[in-house]
Amino acid sequence: MFPISPLDVVGDDLKVTLPDGEVVRFAHLDYAASAPCVRAAAGAVQDLLPRYGSVHRGTGVRSQASTLAYELARDVVAEFTGAGPGDCVVFTRNTTDALNLLARALPPGTTTVVFDGEHHANLLPWPNPVRLPAPSSPDEAVEALDRALRQLTGPAVLTVTGASNVTGEVWPVRRLADVAHSYGVRVIVDAAQLAPHHPVSLHELGADYLAFSGHKLYAPFGAGVLAGRADWLDAAPPYLAGGGASASVGDRPGELTWATGPARHEGGTPNLLGAVALAAVCEALTGADRTALHDHEQALLTRLRDGLRDVPGATEVSLFGPEQPRVGIVSIAFDGSDPAEVARRLARDHGIGVRAGQFCAHPLVRRLTRSASAGECGTATGLLRASFGLGSTTDEVDRLLAALRS
Ligand code: ALA
Repeated sequence: MFPISPLDVVGDDLKVTLPDGEVVRFAHLDYAASAPCVRAAAGAVQDLLPRYGSVHRGTGVRSQASTLAYELARDVVAEFTGAGPGDCVVFTRNTTDALNLLARALPPGTTTVVFDGEHHANLLPWPNPVRLPAPSSPDEAVEALDRALRQLTGPAVLTVTGASNVTGEVWPVRRLADVAHSYGVRVIVDAAQLAPHHPVSLHELGADYLAFSGHKLYAPFGAGVLAGRADWLDAAPPYLAGGGASASVGDRPGELTWATGPARHEGGTPNLLGAVALAAVCEALTGADRTALHDHEQALLTRLRDGLRDVPGATEVSLFGPEQPRVGIVSIAFDGSDPAEVARRLARDHGIGVRAGQFCAHPLVRRLTRSASAGECGTATGLLRASFGLGSTTDEVDRLLAALRS
């Protein structure tokens, strides 16, 4: 028996029946879309369910305990991201929500520099984007950013992913941030795919803002995070006008004072269970042996990538080449097979869950497949993606490879 860990996955014994009647353990290889829940998150929710109440709104013991739990969750996330004085940690619904919030808080006239390597959550919210082509190497990314910023006049920000949701490749965030900061440009890091696999410190990444989702971080309860510099957030109109976001409201329209700090952008009753679950995972990851987790994941990645060489017609895609460090995500192009059909058969005939399509990153997938068709998220065009993390096993990787070969 292994000792119970807060990072054990809940429900990893799910069984499915195949068409021939065989019952197999479901192999979940779609963590990049939504990762499974770990004990830390489930336990935190279970603990709070019998005693939760309103957050920031009551004097009773349930309300007091809930307010305390919510604000402690914020403190834990601040520590996880290295947020300090002058930073703000806002709980949101997910990464898309966090980046949309920040997009609305940019000072008017700000240009957003963004590469075409992003998923739509970090491509679409920006009001005044300058889109740079997806680069072929980290050096090319740094040079392209430098060129773009040299030509820009007026205020700008850079927004960049920490790790690609399509290729798993880690982007050269620190180098890009150094270039951006040399032009006085702030840096936003979409850490949706990085945070489940790597420590994410604002300081070490060189980021001014970080956004990520609970449901990809083993806390599938609908909370996300925006962490970073408070000044623009405090100056911006509230993201959701309403109770909690307002400090005082007069008798006439417009007679009101908005709150500052996280409350300004957390109008309405917050997602207490989501925030507490997310913070419980942050705490468990902070206390874990991250090197051991990383080594296990990299061993699975190597096994999968090596095995794919023996799958006829399958090619792993990458932007920066095979040597670029990656998180546990591999996307595969097929010569002559429809990835959506392959994904359906993996599920039906082998009990394996992956994702096929364009992963809400159409420009990047088009670039990687050199296809002219746009397609929609989840349609038959595009790639097949396998992604994994905590609790993933060599057996799951081997089953996927065997199924693909067959
Ligand atoms: N961006 C998420 C994914 O890659 C939705 O699946």
